[in-house]
Amino acid sequence: MAANSPSLSLDSEFYKPADDFFRDHAQIGLTYDDVTLATLYSEVLPRQTNLETVLHERLRLRIPIISADMDTVTESPMAIAMALHGGLGLIHCNLPERQQLSEVSRVKNNVHGLIQEPIKIAPDQQIGDVLALIEERGFSFRTFPVVDQQGTLLGLLSGTVVRPRYAAINVADAMTPRRDVKTIQERDLGNSPIATADHFFSKNIGIHKLLVVDDADRLRGLFTISDIERIMQERHSQLKPARDSQFRLLCGAAVTATRNSTGELDRDRILAHIDALVERGVDVIAVSTAHGFSKGVGDTVRLIREEHHDLPLIAGNVTSGEGVEYLADCGANIIKIGQGPGSICTTRIVAGVGIPQLTALYVAARAAEIKGVSILADGGITKSGDIVKALTLAHGVICGGLLAGCPEAPGQLMEINGKLYKQYRGMGSIAAMQAGSAARYGHNSKDSMRKLAAEGVEALKEVNPPLDIVLSQLAGGIQSGMGYLGASDLAALREKARYIQVSPAGQRESAPHDIVEVKAGN
Ligand code: XMP
Repeated sequence: MAANSPSLSLDSEFYKPADDFFRDHAQIGLTYDDVTLATLYSEVLPRQTNLETVLHERLRLRIPIISADMDTVTESPMAIAMALHGGLGLIHCNLPERQQLSEVSRVKNNVHGLIQEPIKIAPDQQIGDVLALIEERGFSFRTFPVVDQQGTLLGLLSGTVVRPRYAAINVADAMTPRRDVKTIQERDLGNSPIATADHFFSKNIGIHKLLVVDDADRLRGLFTISDIERIMQERHSQLKPARDSQFRLLCGAAVTATRNSTGELDRDRILAHIDALVERGVDVIAVSTAHGFSKGVGDTVRLIREEHHDLPLIAGNVTSGEGVEYLADCGANIIKIGQGPGSICTTRIVAGVGIPQLTALYVAARAAEIKGVSILADGGITKSGDIVKALTLAHGVICGGLLAGCPEAPGQLMEINGKLYKQYRGMGSIAAMQAGSAARYGHNSKDSMRKLAAEGVEALKEVNPPLDIVLSQLAGGIQSGMGYLGASDLAALREKARYIQVSPAGQRESAPHDIVEVKAGN
């Protein structure tokens, strides 16, 4: 389009770049639904867009989505699934430090498709015991490795003999003995365990399980042919795993500004835990609190940075340029932006503070640019369109509520009036604070209920489909947005975005209206 086109100059009066738009609206706090993005001339098809984001030179994600460090959102199953689809999970810290280390290890040691802790049985059990186990635990499989007390492989009990007529027979007498069981050494899996297992199943006709053993012939895991076939099909999907330089899945972990009994920062405990996390291979640490622009958080970030010069550090949460500068000066590389926008948050109601998300992101983004750090939009995201808007200013988003209903999130399913739900609670809710997260909100978990001022609620989320489906829909939405703006990557999206405020009637117009909806859009 010609540079002096009258339409272009009229467009630019209405649809403004971030600096003009947010400065024109400096007197009002705006969030996602208050604003829409103008579409622009495009030669970019959504599927051609690149969603990669560089949060730090040592932290590149293939999709700019991170699962929140909340105890109803991210433990190892969620973090594994997030990284497998190109994002990142932050393991929450509402659990004993030793347990958090194990969660990180589970992610870093995950071999896609390898069942690391298969259900094993003992040689002196009877087939009847195995049938009872299948019944009690609802297993859909009937083939089991047989091991001794040290975990050494003794044989494989095939599903074909797990029948009531053999109930009284000992496993040792019914199993395929060790010498006839095909196995692979753990060290021979190489950088492409899936391809190795796939090759094995093609070469060994009729064998459906591949057992992995170590040098001492202890069982280390197993592959099943059905998992491998499913994964080979998924390889064609667009979302590729986010891995470290050693081909392990990326994983983050949250910590708080832990204090000792005298109220001082517990420097030794914090550093010992960070050292242990680093030893387990953690890729990024998040110092997560409600008020990041504070001495405790700054001191914690400084403490970690002094000991670990190159470790990517996330810190937050803040909603001001000064807050971003402070945390960046303390040594944080990636700053979380958001105070009170979360779906389970009551900070704005309880404490009367917090800034609507888009305004906060704009102010933070300009400070981050000067300091050379990246920012994450944390909380308040309810649909992919919000993510597109957030990414016009931020380098990634953190989602809690959008993912809490997925099967990969911690917690049991609940059925209420025929509908299935999962628990989702704020880390500032009374229950979460009593479980350990009080420090994040400046309280002590031993304070009485009366003294704990909750800044979050306990809630339920309707169950979601598995994470891969949710992430594919979100990524597809982001790519559509980028296509509309002619942005082939996220840097172009940030550069090209043009904004306009939406009236209340415009907001109503933006969602399905004046219809009887028979099927939700997603
Ligand atoms: P969404 O909207 O994705 O928000 O559910 C998740 C984010 O909310 C923050 N968070 C809280 N904020 N009180 C708050 O004010 C709380 O109890 C609370 N719990 C979580 C957190 O930043 C998370 O990533």
